[in-house]
Amino acid sequence: MKKILVQLDTDPHPSVFDRVVAIDAGVDELFSYGGVTVENVTGLVHGAMFTRSPNDLRNTAIFVGGSDVKAGEALLAKVQSLFFGPIRVSVLLDSNGSNTTAAAAVRAAARHMELDGTRAVVLGGTGPVGHRAAQILASRGVEVIVTSRTIERARETCDLIREQVPDAQLVPAVPQQGGDFTGLLTGCHLLIAAGAAQVQFLKEDQWIDNPTLKVAIDLNAVPPTGVEGIGVTDKAKERGKVLCYGAIGVGGAKMKVHRAAVEALFEQHDRVLNTAEVFAIAEKIG
Ligand SMILES: NC(=O)c1ccc[n+]([C@@H]2O[C@H](COP(=O)([O-])OP(=O)(O)OC[C@H]3O[C@@H](n4cnc5c(N)ncnc54)[C@H](OP(=O)(O)O)[C@@H]3O)[C@@H](O)[C@H]2O)c1
Repeated sequence: MKKILVQLDTDPHPSVFDRVVAIDAGVDELFSYGGVTVENVTGLVHGAMFTRSPNDLRNTAIFVGGSDVKAGEALLAKVQSLFFGPIRVSVLLDSNGSNTTAAAAVRAAARHMELDGTRAVVLGGTGPVGHRAAQILASRGVEVIVTSRTIERARETCDLIREQVPDAQLVPAVPQQGGDFTGLLTGCHLLIAAGAAQVQFLKEDQWIDNPTLKVAIDLNAVPPTGVEGIGVTDKAKERGKVLCYGAIGVGGAKMKVHRAAVEALFEQHDRVLNTAEVFAIAEKIG
């Protein structure tokens, strides 16, 4: 039976990027819809639920994407609310690549260090990618400093993470006056910069000699990058004593995780792949 992926995108045009990955992940037929909202999605989901017998529903799945991650989350909740009993299909949320990018970044770090018991700082930790990276780290026993320009936003993100990871060790934080993040790096083993494009958090001399830092990852590819001194193509590149990854250096792993997550949708008919599940897939890839 053909594998059908129903792509529900909250943007006007369904993402070409997500379409290419779906095909590369072995999807036979891709039904792509743009401008999907919680108000107009019901018929699309019913079409996926009511066409094949329950035993065959694992060959149909839903991908929720688009650039607006909050809209994607609302859509995922609505899609799930329409399922009942065995009449359901698997769903993956990866709006703006948020889950797959965060999972790939944490996985990159985990290749070089034992996460449990360490301390990390996630700069730009309130955005979709930073929030998820912080959540994954917290779920693996890392104490995470979550930064924002405003302490309220940092606290709000920490509260949201605690809803998913009740025993999370989180510290909401803002930079010192003048936007200086150096102090927040004290005692940190891992740095993930997940700020908006063109936002630079650190100059090279603010992190390169940090005595505890083992791995530094910058996900912003657009100059000026988030952490000066990390090259966009860095992939486990040693700079000082720190192993560095740039946005493109993480990109290959992100693509692998994205493809594997789409493939995983067709293993059974009732999976919901969000942050924790996507990271579990990344861990399996190794
Ligand atoms: N390599 C890949 O495969 C890949 C894939 C997807 C995304 N990305 C990149 O990953 C990064 C994070 O993505 P995202 O969607 O989570 O980012 P985002 O939502 O655009 O921004 C993340 C955070 O940056 C902070 N920020 C925004 N403007 C700022 C400014 N002028 N000064 C200081 N802080 C500022 C905001 O935090 P506060 O408002 O709380 O301060 C925001 O929550 C982006 O650079 C994106 O391009 C990479």
